[in-house]
Amino acid sequence: QAIGYQLPKDFLWGAAAAAHQLEGAWNFDGKGVSIADVMRLGDKNHPRVIDSKVEKGQIYPNHWGIDFYHTFAEDITLFHQLGLTCFRTSIAWTRIFPNGDEAEPNEAGLAFYDRLFTRLRENGIEPIVTLSHFEMPLHLVQVYGGWRNRKLIDFFTHFAATVIQRFHHQVKYWLTFNEINNQTNYQDPHPLFQNSGLQLTVDENSRQQMFQAAHYEMVASAKVVQLAHAIDQQVQVGAMLNMSPIYPDSDDPATVMAAQRAMQTRFYYGDVQCLGIYPHWLLLDWQHANYQMDITEDDYRQLQAGRVDYLGFSYYMSFATHSLTDPLFTYNEQNNLVDNPNLEKSDWGWQIDPLGLRYAMNWMFDRWHLPQFIVENGFGAIDQVDYQGKIHDRGRINYLRRHILAMEQAVTLDGVPLLGYCPWSVIDLVSASTGEMSKRYGFIYVDQDNLGRGSKQRLKKDSFYWYQTVIHSGGRLV
Ligand code: BG6
Repeated sequence: QAIGYQLPKDFLWGAAAAAHQLEGAWNFDGKGVSIADVMRLGDKNHPRVIDSKVEKGQIYPNHWGIDFYHTFAEDITLFHQLGLTCFRTSIAWTRIFPNGDEAEPNEAGLAFYDRLFTRLRENGIEPIVTLSHFEMPLHLVQVYGGWRNRKLIDFFTHFAATVIQRFHHQVKYWLTFNEINNQTNYQDPHPLFQNSGLQLTVDENSRQQMFQAAHYEMVASAKVVQLAHAIDQQVQVGAMLNMSPIYPDSDDPATVMAAQRAMQTRFYYGDVQCLGIYPHWLLLDWQHANYQMDITEDDYRQLQAGRVDYLGFSYYMSFATHSLTDPLFTYNEQNNLVDNPNLEKSDWGWQIDPLGLRYAMNWMFDRWHLPQFIVENGFGAIDQVDYQGKIHDRGRINYLRRHILAMEQAVTLDGVPLLGYCPWSVIDLVSASTGEMSKRYGFIYVDQDNLGRGSKQRLKKDSFYWYQTVIHSGGRLV
């Protein structure tokens, strides 16, 4: 039997992607080298090697993506057939400012996004745009040390002002930093590099550097909110968090407290971006740790004045933590997390938890009281094309159906305001964590392997027809 809940009439049904994962054309039309361009192909057991420059003979899957730079017009026709009313992508900073510190933008880069947004709008699709999605200019890493440097605030706001000024008539919804809180896992070099362009030596304090880089990013984000509103009152600027709620793995109070501190730690960015404040526990934590943070009085004013208009977030899975004995309950993402025996996992070990989405939406709304936008949610899996050219991706449909139901219940039973839903992704693309093509997420299959070989032909999966029906019926689940 069909289950359905009434969503708002103007609810945006979309799908999401990011420039570096689909555009390819890494060195076309004046584009500079981004941090994604020096990340090699990896897999779930072999983390992507990060090079300091593009090395001859190495495999860099983001160099080709799925060639969307050249195929976007035909791909958007498929997006339109799917019924999307919005499409989230990012503007590659390096197409506009190849090194990141130039005064004048690269007109060819701006012209590309002009064509892209125009085409989307002609097809009735609202573009939702991320300003920084794991693709900052490599030059800013090499010369300035990435986001550990306060100068990055000016470079980023200059980039943001340039594109918002140019595209505010075409783009109403913007997001500043994709999954800004991934770097809470500062023990892993990948999130530090992808979020902030940080490459640290062993004698540097990576936890402190992470907090400092994130602070500069959040000041930059707050400035972008203000400049965007000055350009156009209609423009809405959102934060973007990776929401993986962290449960206690038992009812032992020391575990419940550990889970609370883990949530406070992984999501304090939301307190700063949505409320314009740093939580007390964190300021005290920095005192205990003796961190000399560079946070000025003006920074605090900017954070307060530049609170975001809405909260974008991705949701793929939930985590669980064991108990801790340390009186500060310091969260350590590498050591504290445990498997949750109640949940199944994807082939890449991601714990599948639809109800966690509803739990998380409630938790965030109680805390930050802002409209939400689910800008990523999806299921990475190996897909097989059968002899008739069909792809029966039941696992993906099953995952999405259960998550959409949880989302609809959060809206209609719990009253959480939600602007839209963008599963990841509309089309198969290069995985951010592994660089693989074989970890597929799309409604549209792309005939291409991990090495970029294949016809690049696009095929509609079963999930394409299923999601088309969901959109068409306004969220009725069959
Ligand atoms: C999010 C990112 O972490 O999850 C995307 O914002 C990414 O860029 C998506 O692709 C899925 O992760 P992965 O590593 O499987 O591609």
